[in-house]
This record gives sequence, structure tokens and C-alpha cells, in this order.
Amino acid sequence: MLQGKTLVITGASSGIGAATAALATSYGAQVIAVDINRPAQAAGEFIQADLSDRASIDQLIGRLPSSIDGLANIAGLPPTRPAADVIKVNLLGLKHLTTQLVPKLSDGASIVNLASLAGLGWPQSKQAIEASETLAPQDVEAFCKLHGIDGARSYFFSKEALIVWTMQNRWTWRERGIRMNAVSPGPVDTPILKDFLQTLGARAEQDMRTMDRPGQPSDIAPVVCFMLSDRSAWIRGTNIPTDGGMFADVQLQMNGFH
Ligand SMILES: NC(=O)c1ccc[n+]([C@@H]2O[C@H](COP(=O)([O-])OP(=O)(O)OC[C@H]3O[C@@H](n4cnc5c(N)ncnc54)[C@H](O)[C@@H]3O)[C@@H](O)[C@H]2O)c1
Repeated sequence: MLQGKTLVITGASSGIGAATAALATSYGAQVIAVDINRPAQAAGEFIQADLSDRASIDQLIGRLPSSIDGLANIAGLPPTRPAADVIKVNLLGLKHLTTQLVPKLSDGASIVNLASLAGLGWPQSKQAIEASETLAPQDVEAFCKLHGIDGARSYFFSKEALIVWTMQNRWTWRERGIRMNAVSPGPVDTPILKDFLQTLGARAEQDMRTMDRPGQPSDIAPVVCFMLSDRSAWIRGTNIPTDGGMFADVQLQMNGFH
């Protein structure tokens, strides 16, 4: 499905990113894995980069080849980390990497952003999301203070803003056939899961009772690979819930259905 494609996959040293890199490789892609941490076993090419740091991202861009067929933005920090760091990695770093990489993307390339079910509340965050559009890394702390984004809220906000940015880019590079979509997992059994359970407390316990099981990275990786492939060429600016039915459940409950 991905034969002959060169793909950049961030967050590839753990969890969903590692599973996606392995699956994409098995589908015939040449994967360039990016992460702040070295993987336990490097299957293909690995470039170390810190996505909270623009200089590190710019160095990464310089090291990447000039023709890339897909970018999977999977790296992310959990809600237990400092609010400013979460926004720098999950939102600002992701956007900087993506926009700087566009000149190196081939026509028809696919960009896939790992958002989350946690981003579901984006319609209620219009003001802060719009204010974040021009946010610079040095202003993140002041921004969080101004908009009351502290603690775990930063994670939710980063995913809300990412879903909106994905939709806004539905046609940005349309004349070159480059498209952007998001995939939104529910709770997935990776090192981040314990952070979610810790942050959400009783609500997470309720969610886990509603679900038959948490997701596995292997539930998410095929969806990301499909979105990176030419088979999904007419899917643009969407956010695909991949969550064992949780999105449907929340939507129905919010709107008074069973
Ligand atoms: N696990 C879940 O329940 C869940 C649910 C919804 C969305 N997600 C999202 O899926 C993505 C992958 O998460 P995961 O569950 O596989 O977690 P994970 O912790 O296993 O993987 C995250 C990866 O991102 C890397 N990373 C963190 N900060 C970085 C930085 N500054 N620069 C470069 N790399 C960095 C980490 O080193 C790690 O390898 C994240 O964006 C997360 O928000 C996860």
C-alpha cells in the first residue's frame, strides 16, 4: 500500500508512532523515524530531534531529503507534563515542522496529525484557538495564563487547536494535491495511558468501564497508514475517530440520544 513512498514519522520511538513506523515499513515505505528519544531497536533511518525547539526542527528539516511523500505527526506529550511544554510540542512544534516541510513534500503527499478524542470540545474554544494561530514559543506561558490554560487543560487545548488547524488546511496545498487529515484515538495502551487515567480520575474510570477494552497501537497504525496512502486521496481536512465507539457514545449523550 505504501510501496516506494518516503515517509517521515515523528514520535516513532514509542507507542503509536513505533507501531505506525513498523507497519508502514512492512507496507513497503522507506520510513525516516523522528523522536527526541532513540528507539530501542532502530529498524530504518532515525533522526533525533526535539520538537519543542524550533532550532532543532530546522536542523531536522535540513537533514531530510528533498522529496517526501508523507508526514505523520505522532509525537506528543501527555497531560501530566507542564502546560507550556505540552503546547510547544503538541501544537507549535507540530505546526512549525509541517509548514517548514511543505517545500520538501512531493505533489500528492499526505499529512496526518495525531489528535485525540480529548480534542472533541474544539467548538467551545474559538477565542483561544484563534489567538494561538500566531503564537510564538516565547509567548506560550503568557498565553496560557491569559486563556486560563493550566495543568491537563493544555493537552485538551493542544488537540482542540490541532483539529481546527487540520480542518482549516483542507485546501491549503490543493493545487499540489497535498492534503492534511487528523486521526483521533480514544484511550490507547501506551506509556501515555497512565497519564490520562491519572489526570482524568473518575471520568477515566467511567470511560474505561464504558469501553470493552483500551485501544492498542496496532488499532491506530493501520488507520494512519491508510491516510498516508494514495487510497485516501479524496479525504481532506477530516478528523477520523478511532476509539472503539467512544466518539459516537459521547456525541449521542451530549445530544440527548441513547
Ligand atoms: N495513548 C493514548 O491514549 C492516546 C490517545 C489519543 C491520542 N494520543 C496521541 O497519540 C500520539 C502518540 O502517543 P502515544 O500514546 O504513542 O505515546 P508515547 O509516549 O508512547 O509516544 C510519544 C512519543 O513522542 C515522543 N516525543 C515527546 N516529546 C517529544 C519532543 N519534544 N520531540 C520529539 N519527540 C517527542 C516521545 O519520545 C515518544 O516516543 C500523541 O500525540 C498522543 O497525544 C494518544
